[in-house]
Amino acid sequence: MCCGIGTIGFSLLSETKLKKGHFIDIKNLKKIIEKNKKINNFKSEIKFTKSDCFSALNKKNKFDLIISNPPFFRSNSIRANSIGFDFKFNFLNNFFTNVSHYMTSKGKIIFLKINDDLKINLKFAKNKIFKKIFKKNKLKLIEHLKIPGTIYEVMLISK
Ligand SMILES: C[S@@+](CC[C@H](N)C(=O)[O-])C[C@H]1O[C@@H](n2cnc3c(N)ncnc32)[C@H](O)[C@@H]1O
Repeated sequence: MCCGIGTIGFSLLSETKLKKGHFIDIKNLKKIIEKNKKINNFKSEIKFTKSDCFSALNKKNKFDLIISNPPFFRSNSIRANSIGFDFKFNFLNNFFTNVSHYMTSKGKIIFLKINDDLKINLKFAKNKIFKKIFKKNKLKLIEHLKIPGTIYEVMLISK
């Protein structure tokens, strides 16, 4: 989810036992994803869907692992760049409200967030916000790891 040019998805497909990848983004990046598969000689079965969060997906689609690297910063303008900015945290709320419909019973979520300690003059979701969202949507935080040397953290979440 929020696959962009597919960096994370392709890395996982090549480095882990994952067999199939479904790449999703609000932008139509089908050609770029297909080109990246070809030039890197990836053999895995992949599919791309253009979708605003889960809106274009049928609830019959169930995933063992859902990975999201979304836009992090809250904006008050709907015209803000969707790579970096999430209008009123709509994506964040939409994602966690709907994600459990798309997970297998043992399915997991890997969600990238920004480290709370980042000093920047932009609003981003901190641990306190995630705690509330998880409680509201009956999701469990299993692990929470900092990625050393970066501003990112990874959360592993289950139903
Ligand atoms: C931080 S970038 C992810 C970059 C990606 N990891 C890569 O390697 O290219 C965020 C991505 O989220 C996508 N995005 C923004 N809003 C979205 C939404 N509502 N639904 C799905 N994708 C969205 C953007 O188009 C962008 O590609």
